Amino acid sequence: MNDKKVLVTGGLGFIGSHTVVALQQEGFEVVIIDNLSNSSIEVLGGITQISGKTPEFENIDLREKSAVKNFFEKYPDIGNVIHFAASKAVGESVINPLLYYENNLSTLVYLLHELNNREKANFIFSSSCTVYGQADELPITENAPVKQAESPYGNTKQIGEEIIRDTCKVNQELKAISLRYFNPIGAHHSGQIGELPIGTPQNLVPFITQTAIGKRSELSVYGDDYPTRDGTAIRDYIHVMDLAEAHVSALKRLLSQNENENYEVFNLGTGNGNTVLEVIKSFEKVSEKDLAYKIVGRREGDITAAYADTNKANDHLNWKAKRSLDDALDSAWKWQKLVEKKEENQD
Ligand SMILES: NC(=O)c1ccc[n+]([C@@H]2O[C@H](COP(=O)([O-])OP(=O)(O)OC[C@H]3O[C@@H](n4cnc5c(N)ncnc54)[C@H](O)[C@@H]3O)[C@@H](O)[C@H]2O)c1
Repeated sequence: MNDKKVLVTGGLGFIGSHTVVALQQEGFEVVIIDNLSNSSIEVLGGITQISGKTPEFENIDLREKSAVKNFFEKYPDIGNVIHFAASKAVGESVINPLLYYENNLSTLVYLLHELNNREKANFIFSSSCTVYGQADELPITENAPVKQAESPYGNTKQIGEEIIRDTCKVNQELKAISLRYFNPIGAHHSGQIGELPIGTPQNLVPFITQTAIGKRSELSVYGDDYPTRDGTAIRDYIHVMDLAEAHVSALKRLLSQNENENYEVFNLGTGNGNTVLEVIKSFEKVSEKDLAYKIVGRREGDITAAYADTNKANDHLNWKAKRSLDDALDSAWKWQKLVEKKEENQD
């Protein structure tokens, strides 16, 4: 196994592409698998512009078991895998649960099958704070109970973690970490890569930047009657580059055999919560634009507040989120303006 080589599945997506850049900056050699179902091949160019290195790319649908097997035959020296590839739209998962169970779980099982055949392997999984639901205590530690999932998407993250835990139990040579992300936002500071939602954005920040650029007429803020400092819901917004760097730290932990058990779980957040109105104000400050928004009723399924206790990740991964909310919104705005310019040039 070549310790410096890493397979990044979903590496052309939002978090994957930033992680590829962070890995390259630390001297790792990256191979990407992506089926482009929620990304564009142009992202490869963005990565190359930033790092000066083009990662190897394989257009593979991980739902094809034989294609996954062929990939590992082609790359016998790959034992490190960071698995981002998944479908992630909560609303869509309610309407089409089987798509989510198939895409998020069969892909995971096929990858683990192949890694089980290796002498040694390191696996990092994209999980989510959604596994906690509305936690009883804030900030949320990794020991908080996993609550009944609110959606098939959330359920795939819970089941995904269980699949990995069970597999690690019987294979001590397989080492794995699940990273429970809070709310990733922002873009690389160069503005060359970022979040590229297809259709109407499901998340707050892309909706804000698309509204500011004139793509959407108005942002709806769902509820201002939550028991929070300004009545809007609180989330832990983490800069995507901080998140990306945490993956490099997690991989280094596995490679240096520093782990306490061969399966571990870490929260990735800043440890601070911000309200929706605070995010809007930060955006208005960095962009020097007034944002068109209105307050509407609460959205079903939304929780009041969630933010991470990050002590475990800080201590064991030797990592800490260091970028500010303003940094994140500034980079997201830079990226949105680049996307707009590219779209204008295509017309
Ligand atoms: N973005 C968030 O807010 C968030 C929060 C918590 C967890 N996560 C998880 O992090 C991971 C990455 O999220 P993201 O925001 O970068 O999503 P994304 O959609 O931008 O990236 C996922 C990538 O995986 C690819 N992909 C999907 N199915 C595939 C398949 N069958 N075969 C090959 N490639 C496939 C897509 O084309 C896309 O490029 C996902 O597992 C997601 O559930 C995301």
